[in-house]
Amino acid sequence: MQQMVETKAKEAVAAATAGVSGEKVYATCIGCHGAAGEGGVGPKLAGQEVTAIVDKLQRYKAGEQVGPMTGMMAPMASGLSDDDMQAVAEYVNSL
Ligand code: HEC
Repeated sequence: MQQMVETKAKEAVAAATAGVSGEKVYATCIGCHGAAGEGGVGPKLAGQEVTAIVDKLQRYKAGEQVGPMTGMMAPMASGLSDDDMQAVAEYVNSL
């Protein structure tokens, strides 16, 4: 029994350390969206819901035309995994 608890704890630690860093992913976005998500070339991201950001990123990755400047954003989203999207959206939401 004790062993099982220890195994579970180890798994939890492994999962947390394997997690993607939203801050690291966002480093590639700052140039266009601002260090605080205040916007610039791209729209303001600060204050947007996590689910809304992930949804937009999924649409860009899927090749959907989202706004007039999708051509600039789509290549950025195409390199993101689901985990990257979730992590970066949570990071942006925390700014
Ligand atoms: C080369 C500049 C550039 C970079 C780098 C960039 N973006 Fe964008 N982003 C844009 C532009 C321009 C738009 C608006 C596109 C459109 O009209 O559909 C946009 C739109 C978005 C949107 C939708 C916002 C809204 O309110 O509709 C999200 C979310 C987003 N970007 C997230 C990111 C993330 C996360 C990264 C980093 C992985 C990133 N962007 C990197 C330029 C950029």
